[in-house]
Amino acid sequence: MTTTLSNLLRARTGPMTSELVQRPAEFGLGRLPARLAPAAVANSVCGFCATGCSLKVHLDAEGSAVNLSPQNNYPVNLGMACPKGWEALTPLSASDRATVPLLRSPATGELAPVDWPTALRTFVARMQGIQSAHGKHAIAFLSTGQIPTEEMLFLGSLFKFGMGGLHGDSNTRQCMATAHVAYKQAFGFDAPPYTYADFEESDVLVFVGANPAIAHPIMWQRVMRNRHDPRIIVVDPRRTETAMCATRHVAVAPKGDLPLFYAVAHELIARGAVDRAFVDAHTSGFEAFSAFLADYAPEACEAACGVPADGIRELASIIAAGRAVSFWWTMGVNQGHESTRVTQALINLALITGNIGRPGTGANSITGQCNAMGSRLFANATSLPGGRDFADPVHRAEVASILDIPEERIPHQNSWAYDRILDGIERGEIRGLWVVATNPAHSWIDRGRFEKLRAKLDFLVVQDMYSTTETALAADLVLPAAGWGEKEGTFINSERRVGVTRKVARPPGQALSDFAIFRLVAEAWGCGRYFREWSSPEAVFQIVKNLSRGRPCDISGIRDYSHLDEAGGIQWPFTAYPSSGDTERRLFSDGRFYTADGRARILFDPPRPAPERPDDAFPFWLNTGRGSSAQWHTGTRTNKSEVLRKLAPRSLYVEINPADAERLGLAPDDSVIVRSRRGRVCALALITTTVPSGQVFLPMHFPEVNHLTFAAFDPHSRQPSYKACAVAVELRERA
Ligand code: SF4
Ligand code: MOS
Repeated sequence: MTTTLSNLLRARTGPMTSELVQRPAEFGLGRLPARLAPAAVANSVCGFCATGCSLKVHLDAEGSAVNLSPQNNYPVNLGMACPKGWEALTPLSASDRATVPLLRSPATGELAPVDWPTALRTFVARMQGIQSAHGKHAIAFLSTGQIPTEEMLFLGSLFKFGMGGLHGDSNTRQCMATAHVAYKQAFGFDAPPYTYADFEESDVLVFVGANPAIAHPIMWQRVMRNRHDPRIIVVDPRRTETAMCATRHVAVAPKGDLPLFYAVAHELIARGAVDRAFVDAHTSGFEAFSAFLADYAPEACEAACGVPADGIRELASIIAAGRAVSFWWTMGVNQGHESTRVTQALINLALITGNIGRPGTGANSITGQCNAMGSRLFANATSLPGGRDFADPVHRAEVASILDIPEERIPHQNSWAYDRILDGIERGEIRGLWVVATNPAHSWIDRGRFEKLRAKLDFLVVQDMYSTTETALAADLVLPAAGWGEKEGTFINSERRVGVTRKVARPPGQALSDFAIFRLVAEAWGCGRYFREWSSPEAVFQIVKNLSRGRPCDISGIRDYSHLDEAGGIQWPFTAYPSSGDTERRLFSDGRFYTADGRARILFDPPRPAPERPDDAFPFWLNTGRGSSAQWHTGTRTNKSEVLRKLAPRSLYVEINPADAERLGLAPDDSVIVRSRRGRVCALALITTTVPSGQVFLPMHFPEVNHLTFAAFDPHSRQPSYKACAVAVELRERA
């Protein structure tokens, strides 16, 4: 095995991630100055993942960041940070920052610098021109889970209430839409019930399609602090870093998760391991579920889920014997063709065993991006802020009154989801697209289609920190934006904790915060009068509070940003100020859910086969996912750090089982071609038993990968299915 690959393997193992977290300096992380002035510190929530660690940013005499270290007394990270957090300041000084607006010149076809007044005039003229020619709804936006809640709310409100648009969605569609919809249907609101202390209080933890040892390393450190000698079950087709550390790895077949959880539920009911008192008092649908499960005995499901009946029974036994069982999932569940029902199958296991509302329990979705939860609740994209519905006249009246805008400016219908917006572009109904802080030309499923759709757009605006993302390179207009650390606002993390992120650096050149850009666009568009009160992020935070009042996500008791600082972040709901002083809050301890009758719904459907399955021509299942704790999504920021680059593989690799490698005549480090019906990529062969025979894995951080993926969507959440399509693998060149 070559050096490249052994380094690569080292960078990928769970213990290595723990080492990174526990002894960061050995890996070049956190080069702290010898002397720190204690007064010159700002606490700021990290802008990468939804763990929501607080970072202590050390400032010089001018108030600019010189370095950072993890905050010790924050209830989330307790003095720890993963490599991305340690390196959070580095991407700000990258050489390819967008520092001036860039406009594509019709003469040369190249992007060329223009001043802000020209950029804004062009934005308005082109977008309004499209609206006059093709209708108000011929423009759309695609936004992000990476900007503060205040900016998300501003974008959605400006676009819908100011500019008269209808269709806008966020990249959270790619990762959290399923959890959102599944919770809404089952609990009556998008409400992840847990607090991170639950990682430490369970005696059984079931992780499904989640790899926290590398994808959420600080959450994994919380699991490591569990003093109850917990059984840790990992359900995943792949032997991930987390599976390697688990008590038991259940190697479910690709897309075999739904029959597996039905079989486990069947077995729990058959052996009387149901909490009848809880089920009778707090749920609805149990009798129908129980009848439905008649066909899902363990023996009947073996083939579909790839787990022997004994393994299914053992899983049921462990769950039945648990005192406090928690179920955790992320993209392996959320990204699938029937993902909403898979999510609800897990929720059902928690409900029927009464594992919810008590310490160490819960059906717990782990969120991806730092502010995906803010996006789900307040972005005003596909739903009205506060988890309200555009189609509900009462909700429209509430929002109009809180925002002091004419009610008729609020659309009566919900936005199209991301994939429908792209379909709209294909049909020529959407002609102008505004992309904010996301990189769909890399990240969208079956990206070859995105490239073709680009040609159908009359006007593509990309607002981002860098002018070099795959999407920015295709733009007609690039608006240079400030990044994390160059602006302030709030994020909501995975456990519903609102935290504040601070301005500790000046944006380069003429780059502006997204907030400032939205203010300028509002004025240039001629709708600034609706946003007079929206003078600063903290002023908009007060508006967010007002929008939350009386809703399940009520945060009206939070005073202001300094209150969040003092309290170490605050979980919703929080209606009372001053607080009782508790730093951890979980939901449903009274067994009451947010549905009209207060009962949680037990929801289910028969499993459906994956739309594309391996066959003779494309014999392997392709799975995609996170590669290492040093890489974030499309690498827009993490690739800018030399330290993070050293901690991650430099080139694309494909994990392939030794038996398959032998059959194909592959040796370690061989260059191979991975082909699907959509495209082909070259990758280094990483021959490893992490993947079973018949399956291969590609890390999603490399731009080639989505040339292969197949655009299937869950019908409820419209979330893309990144985890399963059919590919062929062949030798390209000997290493
Ligand atoms: Fe914490 Fe996530 Fe930031 Fe890492 S990326 S420091 S785990 S918030
Ligand atoms: Mo996600 S990666 O939580 O939008």
